[in-house]
Amino acid sequence: MTAHLLLGQTLSFTADPFAVPWREAVRHRRRGGVLVRAGRIVEVGEGDALAAAHPEAERHEYGDALIGAGFVDAHMHYPQTGMIASWGKRLIDWLDSYTFPEELRLADPAYAAATAETTLALALAHGTTTLTSFGTVHAHSADAFFEAAEAHGMRVIAGKTCMDRNAPDGLTDDARSAHDDSAALIARWHGRGRALYAITPRFSPTSSREQLEALGALWAAHPDCLMQTHLSEQTDEIAWVRELFPEARDYLDTYEAAGLLGARGLYGHAIHLEAREIDRLAEVGAAVVHCPTSNTFIGSGLFDMAGLKARSIPVGLATDTGGGSSFSMLRTMAAAYEIGQLKGTPLHPAQLMWLATEGSAGALHLSGTIGHLGAGAEADITVLDLASTSAIAQRAARAEDIWEALFPTIMMGDDRAVRAVWVAGREVVRSGAA
Ligand code: GUN
Ligand code: ZN
Repeated sequence: MTAHLLLGQTLSFTADPFAVPWREAVRHRRRGGVLVRAGRIVEVGEGDALAAAHPEAERHEYGDALIGAGFVDAHMHYPQTGMIASWGKRLIDWLDSYTFPEELRLADPAYAAATAETTLALALAHGTTTLTSFGTVHAHSADAFFEAAEAHGMRVIAGKTCMDRNAPDGLTDDARSAHDDSAALIARWHGRGRALYAITPRFSPTSSREQLEALGALWAAHPDCLMQTHLSEQTDEIAWVRELFPEARDYLDTYEAAGLLGARGLYGHAIHLEAREIDRLAEVGAAVVHCPTSNTFIGSGLFDMAGLKARSIPVGLATDTGGGSSFSMLRTMAAAYEIGQLKGTPLHPAQLMWLATEGSAGALHLSGTIGHLGAGAEADITVLDLASTSAIAQRAARAEDIWEALFPTIMMGDDRAVRAVWVAGREVVRSGAA
C-alpha cells in the first residue's frame, strides 16, 4: 500500500480553543508533514524528519500552503443548490417562494442525482470533505445523495426530509410513510462505507405531533443514528410554532415531547433560545449548528457563540445552502467572525478553523475520525494557498505569524484558495502552482 507524505505548513488541534486559551489548543508547524496510508493519517510531524524516516512515501510538496483537516459542513440542503442566492424573502416566504418549488423538482430521480453530484463537486472544490445534508421528502433524494457521495468516497450524513403538513402537495409524506421510508433508508445506508443516516424532520411547523412521535420512536429504535432539524431560526417561525403547539413550553419542547431531543441531535440555527432550551440542550449534550451566512442572508438574527460555548454546548459550523449564500466554509468562517463582532465577541482564526473542522466533527459525534489532522483520523485533508488572489497576497505578505497570514484567506478567500483536497487518502482536487 503506497504511503503518501504531504509537505507544507500544518495546522492541528489538540484541544477546543474555546475551552482553553487558543494558544494551548493548536499545533502549527512551519515545515510540517502528514503521512497517509490506507486512507488514514498515520503521523503528523516535522516534515524533514518524516521524509527521512519514510523514503518509500510518495512526496506531495505544497510549499508554503497550509495543510489542515478537510472542512466539515454540519448542516446544508443539497436539494437547494439550484436556488441559492434567491432574493428578498424571509424564512417562511423564502421556503414557499423558492425552496419548495425547487424541492418539488427533485421528484425526478435524474434531477436529484444531478443535483447531488453538482453539490458534492462544488463542496470538494471549496475544500469541504463532509456534508451533512437534508434531502427532500422523496426517499430517492437520500439514495441519490448517498450514491453520489459513495462514488467520491466521501463521508456524508444525510436523511430524507419528513413533512406532513404546511407544505405543498407533492412534498408531503405522512407519519407512517415517514417512519417506514426512513427506516428503509437506515437499513440501506447507515454505516455502509462512509455513509451515516440522520433522521430528518424538517422542523416542527411542517410535522404533525404524530409524525414527530413516529420519528422519535424510530430514533429510539436506532439510537446510533443522528437526528437533524431546525430550531428557533426566526421570530415569526417561533410565533408560528407557539400557535401550532400551544401546550409546548417552548420550541425545543415540541421535539423533546416527541422523543426528538438527545445527544445525537443536531439543531440548526438555534438563535432565539430561551433559558430553559439552553439548559436542556446543555443537559443532554445535544449539538447546535451555526449557519452564519444563512442567518444574515435570510435575516434571522445573531447566534450567541460565546454564550452557548460557555455552557459547553457542542457547536458545529455550516453553510446551510441554499439559505446560506456560499458553498465556502471560508466565507462561512468570515460570516461567523462578523456575527461575533456584532455580538462583541470576535472569534480568533484558530477558533474559526476549529469550528469548521473539529467543532463540526464533534457535533456529529465523529471527533478524531474526521475534521482532525492527527494520527488515526480518516485522511480527509484540505490544503490552503494563503496567497490565492492579489488582494489576499499583498496582505498576507506583511503577516508576522500564521494567524495574520491565515486570516485574510478566511475573510477574503474562496475556492481559489483551495490548493488540494484529499478524500480518504486520495488527492481528488489539485490546482494552482505545484
Ligand atoms: N427551516 C425549515 N426548513 C428550512 C430550510 O430549508 N432552510 C432554512 N434555513 N431554514 C429552514
Ligand atoms: Zn437548514
